[in-house]
Amino acid sequence: MLYTTLGRTDFNVSRMGLGCGGHSRLGMRNGDLAGAVRIVREAYDLGVNFFDTAESYGTEEAVGKGLAGIPREKVFISTKVGATWEDEKSTSLQMRERLEGCLGRLGTDYVDVFHLHGVPLRDYAYSVEFLVPEMIRLKEEGKIRAIGITESFIPEPDHRMLAPGLLADDCWDVVMLGFSVLNQSARHSVLPMTMERKVGTLCMFAVRRALSQPEALIDLMNQLVQEDLVDPYDFEHFDPLGFLTESGVAGSIQEAAYRYCLWEPGIDVVLSGTGNIEHLRENARSLCGEPLPDEVRRRLAKIFAHVDSVSGN
Ligand SMILES: NC(=O)c1ccc[n+]([C@@H]2O[C@H](COP(=O)([O-])OP(=O)(O)OC[C@H]3O[C@@H](n4cnc5c(N)ncnc54)[C@H](OP(=O)(O)O)[C@@H]3O)[C@@H](O)[C@H]2O)c1
Repeated sequence: MLYTTLGRTDFNVSRMGLGCGGHSRLGMRNGDLAGAVRIVREAYDLGVNFFDTAESYGTEEAVGKGLAGIPREKVFISTKVGATWEDEKSTSLQMRERLEGCLGRLGTDYVDVFHLHGVPLRDYAYSVEFLVPEMIRLKEEGKIRAIGITESFIPEPDHRMLAPGLLADDCWDVVMLGFSVLNQSARHSVLPMTMERKVGTLCMFAVRRALSQPEALIDLMNQLVQEDLVDPYDFEHFDPLGFLTESGVAGSIQEAAYRYCLWEPGIDVVLSGTGNIEHLRENARSLCGEPLPDEVRRRLAKIFAHVDSVSGN
């Protein structure tokens, strides 16, 4: 496993983080708590020390049980609550109470990164004015160690909240952003600022539906051609990213997609979620892999240069 320092924190985190949400939710969509606990523990045994969950995922208990018995300082736990609560803006008191709920389910007395979850642009100003001061107090009390925010990437894949937010405010220790082969726009709009300010970065959407299901990728490429955002002469219609598995570049599209994100300058941790233990092991190998060859990286950058409108979901 590869490790790095997470931005301005002193956390020595694994470059692969276990994503405990997404479509798979550690397999807990089928209610399999024991299976989810096994995935958490296997990830730790593979060298992963960064675990990302959230109040809304229903996986905090699995993370707590999977990490039980491991000295607390050996792992980094990231969790989140939304800036809204039951369709209203969350008050700072509600946010504090919800954090207490997270701590109880996780079985710990602090979290390493506490994020506002999936904040759309319309809730950003409120979050900074009313919730961040309380997050600072929680940090002073030792209940959280770093303050984070995550994008609402499916409806807002153009970083319209995060990019201006980072420019205006220096309160974020860590941010979670969407970045993938398919939407590389954060390279220009977000990552230069996080690097300059030493804000830690967690990459989500490295592999999602379009990069794990061949038909979904073909549909997405057709949509991008229709919208004039990609050039149909740049790729094969029936196997748009087939060149990634040719000539031994990578064993699978997922492997190439993870390695592409892993070696993007400015990205600290690449999150990878699964309910399948074989996928977990495969992804742990991919996320220790070499950078893709330069000509392949250049080709991917060229094909998707104008795309900032899709998440790949
Ligand atoms: N706004 C937010 O705060 C937000 C939003 C989204 C995600 N997140 C966080 O980021 C993490 C990562 O999310 P993500 O969007 O990148 O998706 P993800 O949760 O990592 O999901 C990846 C998808 O690809 C499949 N997959 C994984 N490895 C594979 C492999 N080797 N071969 C084939 N299929 C594979 C998984 O299905 P299988 O179960 O079948 O492997 C899953 O459906 C989440 O778990 C969550 O912690 C945060």
